[in-house]
Amino acid sequence: MATSPRHFLDLASHETAYLRHLLELTGRVKAGEFGGRPLEGRTLAMIFRKSSTRTRVSTEAGMAQLGGHALMISDRDSQMARGETVADTAKVLSRYVDGILIRAFGHDEVVELAREASIPVINGLTDLLHPCQVMADLFTAAEEFGEDPAALRVAWIGDGNNMANSWLNAARRFGFPLRLACPPEYGPDPEILCRARSAVDVELVRSPAEAAAGAHIVTTDVWASMGQEDEQRAREVAFAGYQVDEAVMDRADPSAIFLHCLPAHRGEEVTAGVIDGPRSRVFDEAENRLHVIKAILLDLIG
Ligand code: CP
Ligand code: NVA
Repeated sequence: MATSPRHFLDLASHETAYLRHLLELTGRVKAGEFGGRPLEGRTLAMIFRKSSTRTRVSTEAGMAQLGGHALMISDRDSQMARGETVADTAKVLSRYVDGILIRAFGHDEVVELAREASIPVINGLTDLLHPCQVMADLFTAAEEFGEDPAALRVAWIGDGNNMANSWLNAARRFGFPLRLACPPEYGPDPEILCRARSAVDVELVRSPAEAAAGAHIVTTDVWASMGQEDEQRAREVAFAGYQVDEAVMDRADPSAIFLHCLPAHRGEEVTAGVIDGPRSRVFDEAENRLHVIKAILLDLIG
């Protein structure tokens, strides 16, 4: 009997040991250990139902660097956008390629694709989660503070969105304390929050300064994610006071760094002084997306 493929859809469904293995593999990738062509002859389909710069380019470049091939399937040119079912798409692509990376709106679509596919599926962002990004964030943190994420104190400021949910899953898996400052009505997913709270020290606090106090990592994201463009104005009002500025960073640990998955809106969720300042690691973080996705690809389809 064929064994089920292993997927990378979220951190919560993997053991901490496996996530640590991926971070360790990422370090070996970054150190140049896989310079041959370990994915020669392998093809990855990349379904993008939303825009992307980092995820798309790091995955396509990563596949090429490992000797494989990646092909882009956007809503403009696939039958999925015209109503072909997720199940049929999964079954057909499974006959052609060795893995699928998908960026979608609903998380359920990605779960269904993985259930119906006979090849590994990687979540390249949904409205609920962005697991490849948070792995890059954890790797960036490890480069700065050492190998053990459990020793970190993390502050999430702003929208309780896919990145906030992913940090909650990371806190649960690695056991580090997480403080979140989100406006009322814009908190993280209640179920993910509840599961994290039952496992680890997670606190919803009232102000960014309170969240940042003593933190090693201060992180945020845009106020309106992809698909929420119509809410931009209302969100600007709701999120006033949730900007990461120099005063917020001053509350953090003296060694603290600033992370942001990008794209960023300077003057909204973060000041230019912080994101372009000495404590920002956002471009290392963006670079690490490449090393992380290569590690995931090596592990899943190598
Ligand atoms: N951080 C991130 O996922 O960026 P893209 O939307 O450009 O892929
Ligand atoms: N929260 C953002 C992340 C972009 C990488 C979004 O979903 O648009």
